[in-house]
Amino acid sequence: MTPDDKKRIAAEAALDYVQPGTVLGVGTGSTVNHFIDILAQKMKGAVEAAVSSSEASTERLKQHGIPVMDLNSVDELSIYVDGADEATRHLQLIKGGGGALTREKIIAEASRSFVCIADDSKLVDRLGAFPLPVEVIPMARSLVARRMVALGGQPVWREDYFTDNGCEILDVHGLDILDPSALETEINQIPGVVTVGLFAHRGADVLLLGGEKGVQTLKP
Ligand code: 5RP
Repeated sequence: MTPDDKKRIAAEAALDYVQPGTVLGVGTGSTVNHFIDILAQKMKGAVEAAVSSSEASTERLKQHGIPVMDLNSVDELSIYVDGADEATRHLQLIKGGGGALTREKIIAEASRSFVCIADDSKLVDRLGAFPLPVEVIPMARSLVARRMVALGGQPVWREDYFTDNGCEILDVHGLDILDPSALETEINQIPGVVTVGLFAHRGADVLLLGGEKGVQTLKP
C-alpha cells in the first residue's frame, strides 16, 4: 500500500462522521483532497455546504459542485475534517505544512468535532521532528525568528511564499516539544505571530490513521 493509498482510506473513513444536512469544515492538503473527492462521489447531496480553510480547497469543493460558505454566515460547524503533519496519541498536532494553519485553527475552533485524517507515518511519540510552521506578519519576520532561536529552534523563512492571508511563514526546525500546550501559548504571545501550527489546546477529537492493516481510530 502506498502512502497515498493510506491517506485515501483514512479520508474515506471520515465519511462515517459526516452528519447529513449540516455545514462541515474542510481543511487543506493531499489527504483532504481525497476526502473532498470521496465526499463528492458518495455524499454530495447530503451536506448543506462546507467552510473551507484555503483557496485551494475552496476551488476543489466548487469544482465538485459542493457549496462553500463564509464562516461568518455559520454559527457552528458539525465537524471539521483535516490532515496533519504530525500527531501524537493525545491527538495534539503539528499542522501548516501546506501553509493554511491560521484558517485551519479558526475552523477547528468553530467546530463541534475535529476529525483528523492521516497516513500512519504521521503518528509520533513527541512533536517537533517536522519543522513547526509559524505564520507571521511580514514586518515581524526577523523579530519572531530571533525569538524562535531563543527557544532553541532554527527558523527557516519559506521564501517567496505568502499565505492566503498575505502573511509569511517561518518553519522552525530542531524543537523538541515536551509541552505542546505551553509552547503554543508562548509562541502565540510573541507580537507579530499570527498563528503557530501547534494544535494542542484544541487538538483533534478523533484521529483516523490509514495503514497496511486498514484504518486505526484513536481518541484521547
Ligand atoms: C496544511 C496542513 C495539512 O493538513 C498537512 O500539511 C498535511 O498535509 P497532507 O495531507 O498533504 O499530508 O496542515 O496546512
